[in-house]
Amino acid sequence: MLAPPPLSLYVHVPWCVRKCPYCDFNSHEQRGEPPFEAYVDALLADLDSDLPLVWGRTVQSVFFGGGTPSLMPAASLERFLQGASSRLRFAPGCEITLEANPGTAEHGRFESYLAAGINRLSFGVQSFDDGCLQRLGRIHDSAEAERAVKLAQDAGFDNINLDLMYALPGQDLAMAATDLERAFALQPAHISHYQLTLEPNTVFAARPPAGIPGEDAGWDMQEHCQAMLADAGYRQYEVSAYARPGRECAHNLNYWTYGDYLGIGAGAHGKITMGHDQSVLRRWKLKHPARYMAAAGGEAVIGGDERVEPERRPFEFMLNALRLVGGFTLASFEARTGIAAADIEPQLQAAVDNGWLVRDAGRVVPTESGRRFTNDVVSLFLAD
Ligand SMILES: C[S@@+](CC[C@H](N)C(=O)[O-])C[C@H]1O[C@@H](n2cnc3c(N)ncnc32)[C@H](O)[C@@H]1O
Ligand code: SF4
Repeated sequence: MLAPPPLSLYVHVPWCVRKCPYCDFNSHEQRGEPPFEAYVDALLADLDSDLPLVWGRTVQSVFFGGGTPSLMPAASLERFLQGASSRLRFAPGCEITLEANPGTAEHGRFESYLAAGINRLSFGVQSFDDGCLQRLGRIHDSAEAERAVKLAQDAGFDNINLDLMYALPGQDLAMAATDLERAFALQPAHISHYQLTLEPNTVFAARPPAGIPGEDAGWDMQEHCQAMLADAGYRQYEVSAYARPGRECAHNLNYWTYGDYLGIGAGAHGKITMGHDQSVLRRWKLKHPARYMAAAGGEAVIGGDERVEPERRPFEFMLNALRLVGGFTLASFEARTGIAAADIEPQLQAAVDNGWLVRDAGRVVPTESGRRFTNDVVSLFLAD
């Protein structure tokens, strides 16, 4: 039986000051001040149309992602949050994260965010090396990043994530290590450490910059940085996520454990378990901000609706759960996919035989090699 899992709310804000050449997110360079107030109206109308999918359920986390949500005035965020919490029940202590670009920090801004209800900030720092930041086309330098984090801390934010990328053009192992040391000095609760990937349809994919470290150098950086993060008290709990004890990101954990989420905003994706007909629905919204805003509140805003057939659910579940260092329980597999664990026994055993997974009393945990060859492991669970 499919049992509705925890529910999160994702809100997409699709504008940035400038488009970074490596980024394939749905983000658009702003021309003048984006129409934030109209956007909040559209978000609330969009939420109204999705409400019937989640009647009676409680939201356990909210995430404003982008794009650059920190371009949004606190008053607009507050109006959205007030509107959302009058439509949906928010769990006590609900984690509410805002992605922030350090180049958008101004004095007083973080106090207002806190007052608006935001209780976690995720800064896109990327690197503390000014040369690397320039090559990445970032709008801020390292001093601005440090200043932004300190301003947020002074305003009272204690749950802060820093996004860093490694294997950057012109970066060597010592530089990647220095980036981490400068991050540690700021004492964030959480660090996301991503390897730069050349995403299709980006400027970097079309014209790769010189000096991108090769595969072996990338592995060396990852291994070295993993050890540094562990020594500094950041426990790895997912491929790219490291946290101080108890500071794991509830919102992302919900994705990785195949939880449910409403996706509101331009290009946002949602996934909802429907108890009444035992189905899983994926829904996404129109990507283009102006078209999204014009259509919000009506059926036309839906870019697509897709039922996830039962045969596909084990693959989707594994795609997420095998990113987690702690793996998953067979009980959660059954509750979230509606599939009996016995049905995936041959694939599980094949993965165990290959040394990719280990099993212990109902829990399945990826090994080091299982996490290295995630694609191979996950493909075992694809229906033919
Ligand atoms: C949706 S972005 C939003 C953050 C915010 N807009 C900013 O850049 O300051 C989330 C994070 O994904 C990471 N990211 C984006 N593109 C990436 C790429 N091509 N390879 C690896 N990580 C990437 C960056 O660390 C970025 O901070
Ligand atoms: S600021 Fe963030 S979302 Fe915007 S283009 Fe750069 S990486 Fe992408």
